Amino acid sequence: MNILNELVNGSGYVVTKINDLKKFNELRRVLIKKMNFKEKDILSVRKKISNMNNAQINRMMINLLSLNTASEMMIESCKNIVKEVSGKKIFLQRRANTIFNLPGKNQRRQWPHYELMSGISPYSFVLWAPFHDLEDDDGVFYYKNQDSIKMIKSEEKKGLVNGPQILKLKNKLKPTKLKYGDVIIFNPFILHGNKDFNSNFTRIACSVRFQSTLMPIMQKNSDFFKFYKIN
Ligand SMILES: [Fe+2]
Repeated sequence: MNILNELVNGSGYVVTKINDLKKFNELRRVLIKKMNFKEKDILSVRKKISNMNNAQINRMMINLLSLNTASEMMIESCKNIVKEVSGKKIFLQRRANTIFNLPGKNQRRQWPHYELMSGISPYSFVLWAPFHDLEDDDGVFYYKNQDSIKMIKSEEKKGLVNGPQILKLKNKLKPTKLKYGDVIIFNPFILHGNKDFNSNFTRIACSVRFQSTLMPIMQKNSDFFKFYKIN
């Protein structure tokens, strides 16, 4: 499959395999180490976080501030995919996001949105990969390119950006069930969001944004991106 063609002209997202799972394993190992827990395996960490209160989660996030190599590790573990869509010379998000989704209602969850809203350019892409198998049917859903664009344009006609139509999106789509070792790459127009997350344990994933240096950057520039060359 031509990934770039699918991202631009097809559904707008592709689920594929991480190219170098050893590197991704290393990212997971470093992440767990930086959390300063006694627990060393991902399942124990997920159980532990599920029982933490907000103050404890904030403390964990502060510990994670010292993890400043996650974006490079993420890109290196997916480097053939990144080279195929954006070439060797990229603008890379300075800090990859580590995402913790706790189970249950009243937890942090992403409302339906598309990445372009954050000020990245239309030429950027997002890599998102979980640090374990996703066991249940809850979690992130993705709308296909055409459906996303239709909804964005329909709101644009009313002078709205990410207005009520998108925010109240009653999705009938099943979230994409990824296994450990899978990665999803998507373009910045794809509407996506989280349903309430009902699994027993916290979901932990990593995401990073990048684009080719040959394409214009927009509102988010060098405060957000750094130059990175893939070997
Ligand atoms: Fe997002």
